Formats: sequence, C-alpha cells, structure tokens
Amino acid sequence: MTKKFLAPLFISAMFVAACGGGEKKEEKKDDEVKISANEVPAAPATPTVSKGETLIASKDCLTCHKVDLKLVGPAYIDVAKKYPATEENIAMLADKIIKGGTGNWGEVPMTPHPDVPLEDAKEMAKYILSTGK
Ligand code: HEC
Repeated sequence: MTKKFLAPLFISAMFVAACGGGEKKEEKKDDEVKISANEVPAAPATPTVSKGETLIASKDCLTCHKVDLKLVGPAYIDVAKKYPATEENIAMLADKIIKGGTGNWGEVPMTPHPDVPLEDAKEMAKYILSTGK
C-alpha cells in the first residue's frame, strides 16, 4: 500500500530534479513558463464557419442562393423551413445538389454538381438545414 502510494511522488520528484529545479518547485518555473509561452502560437479562434458553409462558398452555389434571400434558387432559410433536418432529408438534398433538378420551388432548374462528392454534398445540406434555426 505505502509503496504504491509513494511511487508517483518519487517519480515526480525525479522529474523535477531532471529539469534542474532542485527538490522544491518554487519560482524556478518562471523561465519554463516564458519559454513555452513564446513557442506556442496564440491559439486560433474556434472556427465558427461550418464545413458545409465553407464547401458552399467554394462552389458556385452562392451565385443562385443566398442564406436569407431568394435569388435564382430558394433562400437557404426557406429550404431549412421546408425540410426538417433528418438524415433522410439530408440525403435527399445531397442527391439534389449532385444531380440538380426542378419542381420543388418552381420551374427554374437547379444545376447539377456531379463533381461534388456525396459526403461534401451532405455537409452542405446539413449546413443549409441549420440556417433556419
Ligand atoms: C444556376 C443556379 C443554381 C446554382 C449554381 C445552385 N443552385 Fe441550388 N437551386 C437552384 C434552383 C433554381 C433551385 C430550385 C429547384 C426546384 O425547384 O426544385 C435550387 C434548389 C436547391 C436546394 C433545395 C432542393 C429541393 O429539392 O428543395 C438546395 C438544398 C440547393 N439548391 C443547394 C445548392 C447548393 C449546395 C449549390 C452549390 C453546390 C447550389 N444549390 C447551386 C439554383 C441553383
């Protein structure tokens, strides 16, 4: 029992000694802190842009769609209002993004995007369905 309990203490004492800090932790730490603060670059702000949004921005989507405005195609918030964000709808919309089509919003067809991988199209659909909240 006592041996098990002391082992971690012993190891950390060795660690401190190896760092040249002596047995007591005290203020020696100051240097180490400064060095690591200089070496580690400022943490990047957590990205607030979703993958789907980035993908959409990298394609031609925004020439026909705006988040909150109907252009050639429906506003994304209207798409989000029309379909609940279920797996089924995400798959259906991903399919439409890739294959294009018409009839759900009017006569104007949505252009197909055969170069968009299914996984990316799903990310786009997920993002679009998240805009209505
Ligand atoms: C040439 C213009 C055009 C471009 C470019 C375009 N869209 Fe569309 N989009 C439309 C039109 C028009 C509709 C309505 C189709 C309909 O009535 O079924 C539509 C519909 C949609 C819908 C709803 C589909 C449905 O069945 O309700 C989604 C989601 C969508 N577009 C996503 C995208 C994404 C993502 C891109 C980029 C990869 C994109 N669109 C690029 C014109 C466009």
